[in-house]
Amino acid sequence: MNMLTSSVGKKIMMAVTGVILVLFIIGHVIGNMTIFVGPDGINAYAVHLRDLGPLLWLVRLVMLSIFLFHVYLGVSLTLENKAARPVGYNQKTDLVTGFAAQTMWVSGLVLLAFVVYHVLHFTLHVGVDNVGGLIDAAGRFDVYTMVVQGFHKAINTIFYVVAMAFLFLHVSHGFQSFWQSLGLNNERTQPKFQIVGKLVSLVVAAGFVSIPVIAMLILKA
Ligand code: HEM
Repeated sequence: MNMLTSSVGKKIMMAVTGVILVLFIIGHVIGNMTIFVGPDGINAYAVHLRDLGPLLWLVRLVMLSIFLFHVYLGVSLTLENKAARPVGYNQKTDLVTGFAAQTMWVSGLVLLAFVVYHVLHFTLHVGVDNVGGLIDAAGRFDVYTMVVQGFHKAINTIFYVVAMAFLFLHVSHGFQSFWQSLGLNNERTQPKFQIVGKLVSLVVAAGFVSIPVIAMLILKA
């Protein structure tokens, strides 16, 4: 089986890249919780990340490639499915269907748009006011103020909350798809994977949502 050209190979690669991305977002949401410690929490955390130097760039490059590969596989598999059944079935034969399953490509595209916007904003500082002046009392780049000020603009907060609803949908279905693609799902295990997938994605999405909402309503920059 060729992992890059056969449908089964692509599904397995989709599952593997998906898991790596989910591990990234779990790490990211845990790291982001340092914002609730205050500027000393998240600014120190950002310095630790920057201290990784070339390793940070390597991880960024690998993660970007995995992300782009995951998007490519998703588009490719969707096109293959469409070509295989141009008229569509009256009755779905998939083990797992439902709103999240049928909207995977929509939620995927929203997340792609979100990640582009998010990296432009918080990593490349596009649209951040007075970036040069964002230095905290300890002389570090003031990620805390950048993030809190960003979420004091309601439009940003709304966009994040909406995007996280799509993250919930995408990850909750992706979790079940993972087992399905590896051939480990069946009628007995499917409801269990469904519950665990929903729980994991709910906790992750709620963790992310708490940041813009609390920053907008409570935190001062
Ligand atoms: C409220 C939610 C979030 C907050 C407050 C947040 C915060 C941040 C910050 C401050 C950075 C810049 C790190 C730096 O350059 O030092 C960043 C980078 C990034 N975030 Fe988020 N993030 C959130 C949600 C997400 C989600 C849901 C995803 C993925 C679906 C994501 C993916 C990324 C990526 C890919 C980067 C670039 C990594 C890098 O610069 O090394 N973020 N985030």
